[in-house]
Amino acid sequence: MATIDSVLQENRVFPPPADAVARATISGMAAYEALCKEAETDYSGFWGRLAREHLVWKKPFTQTLDESGAPFYKWFADGALNVSWNCLDRNLENGNADKVALIFEADDGKVSKVTFRELHALVCKFANGLKSRGVKKGDRVLIYMPMSVEGVAAMQACARIGATHSVVFGGFSAKSVQERVVDAGATAIITADEQCRGGKNIGLKVVVDEAFSLGGCEAVHSVIVYQRTGNAINMAAGRDVWLHDLIKDQAATCEPEWVEAEHPLFLLYTSGSTGKPKGVQHSSAGYLLHAILTNKWTFDLKGDDTFWCTADIGWVTGHTYIAYGPLACGVTQIVFEGVPTYPDTGRFWRMIQDHKVSVFYTAPTAIRSLIKASENAPATHPRNYKLDSLRILGSVGEPINPEAWMWYHDNVGGGRCPIMDTFWQTETGGHVITPLPGVTPLVPGSCTLPFPGIQAAIVDETGNDVEWGKGGFLVIKRPWPSMIRTIWGDPERFQKSYFPTDLGGKLYLAGDGAVRDAKTGYFTIMGRIDDVLNVSGHRMGTMEIESALVSCTELVAEAAVVGRPDDLTGEAICAFVVLKRARPTGDEAKKIVKQLQDWVAKEIGPIAKPKDIRFGDNLPKTRSGKIMRRLLRALAKGEEITQDVSTLENPAILDQLKQSV
Ligand code: WT7
Repeated sequence: MATIDSVLQENRVFPPPADAVARATISGMAAYEALCKEAETDYSGFWGRLAREHLVWKKPFTQTLDESGAPFYKWFADGALNVSWNCLDRNLENGNADKVALIFEADDGKVSKVTFRELHALVCKFANGLKSRGVKKGDRVLIYMPMSVEGVAAMQACARIGATHSVVFGGFSAKSVQERVVDAGATAIITADEQCRGGKNIGLKVVVDEAFSLGGCEAVHSVIVYQRTGNAINMAAGRDVWLHDLIKDQAATCEPEWVEAEHPLFLLYTSGSTGKPKGVQHSSAGYLLHAILTNKWTFDLKGDDTFWCTADIGWVTGHTYIAYGPLACGVTQIVFEGVPTYPDTGRFWRMIQDHKVSVFYTAPTAIRSLIKASENAPATHPRNYKLDSLRILGSVGEPINPEAWMWYHDNVGGGRCPIMDTFWQTETGGHVITPLPGVTPLVPGSCTLPFPGIQAAIVDETGNDVEWGKGGFLVIKRPWPSMIRTIWGDPERFQKSYFPTDLGGKLYLAGDGAVRDAKTGYFTIMGRIDDVLNVSGHRMGTMEIESALVSCTELVAEAAVVGRPDDLTGEAICAFVVLKRARPTGDEAKKIVKQLQDWVAKEIGPIAKPKDIRFGDNLPKTRSGKIMRRLLRALAKGEEITQDVSTLENPAILDQLKQSV
């Protein structure tokens, strides 16, 4: 693998900068090693200590870890707290009331600021409004919102009353919304009239209306609509209510619902290796603990920082590093509505300059596209902006290639700022393998070492450790507080996917291949080992896209989807399709490609559109009828087929499938 080779040859090492060592909460390798040692010696004591130090409990817990139902672990189970109290009220009590919590920058550049006191009041009114509609502890609330103060407040309001939220990214389709409403059994939806991105208004409420028309959403009694643009939308009498009407007469205080530590704070749907997305269920206390610790240790967030995580609240990154962690740490952060390319590709750099951002967290795909953009439009190169407020950079979502790492380091970080290449997943709740700014010598392309208390390892197919330098499956050997609790409604799938019996049933299987450097033990992630793709840091199941394609029954007889490496998006989606009609060519083929891309966008969302669609009279299959995906991956990459294809039922179709439309 190209990435692996380049990392193994990577001999640039960047020791932690002296100022980072001086100011970091975890300072120096010895401090890191002491924490790891503490966790190793007394695992539950380690997490118990941190949970007492970093969370405020209504009722203290007496048992730290309950392993009796493994792998359904329970953390701090007899303790009670409220997540919203820990994020907001705590800041009113400790002197942060008038500090800015959120700096909101709209798509059009308009800036507004909200203090912790104001956010607290908004959340309380919102929570009271939800209660007035009958939403209560344990109910599921689907949130389909733009990046906004109100989006963050919606999540916090649910947490305040003990309702379990399920945020759906604003780019997902009506069908995706409907499926998630049904699977989660949601009884209320919080949405907006429209969202503004890149100078365009995009309907959200209209998508929710369409989700209703698909059926199965009868249990939803309330749709709460935040008015973002004011353009005309439909409001169903009795069911739909404007947010501003709902909250206008509500009290600005709301006694939180004290929930047990394990109470489900949220569900977040993510792709797996079957066609059906899984509702990853997270806890309240354990999740929040790791959100706080990683914000404090990986990003070294302190009172005077201005933090900016560019993720959307529709992804887990926007949960842990926008909606919960930074608030609980009492830090000022940016919430950005727009896109990095509007009004020009200098948007990120201008915003860092204007708001004096000190810690910046983004995705490799954004970096790669901005490298390209700044070559085409030199005026938007980061060198044209004053970025000296920055002190720490972060990367997440996919491997960052060493070239992109160096560019980020030199041009954005001015050669001064360490880059935290944070490896984690929707299921892990927060960082699990990551450098720490005042500790870890950095090697471009490596996420380095486990976060203290996380027992990451690499094993073979029977669950035995492999030696450093050899690749294998990435696992975590012990439970940790912010781990996934179950898949909503499907505990069996949870156990099978994450604690497979092949590996002994006790190891958490991440689903990624990885290797540790033979000398340093540093981890490098080699990509997914299952049928999950990573396109621009977005996780997508090949089966999901295949199901979407074959559901176009008018046109499609059969489809197989694979990933192929892409310079910009990491992986690109390549679909091999057998049509019900004769194999098209020329303009006709182009037309059908467009038709199928639009179909997938409508079924799942624009992010799932295949970049490359090829047509064949059949797919390469073994005599037993199994699709040979390995061959398809080679074809997608444009590789010569050197494998023996004599067992193929139909070798001639390989020539057809070589050709892109
Ligand atoms: C998958 C998880 C974690 C929040 C965003 C994505 C890949 C994530 C890295 C990294 C290499 C990474 C893995 C993982 N991934 N971060 N720093 N280096 N790969 O969350 O949608 O649940 O996807 O993203 O393949 O399994 P997600």
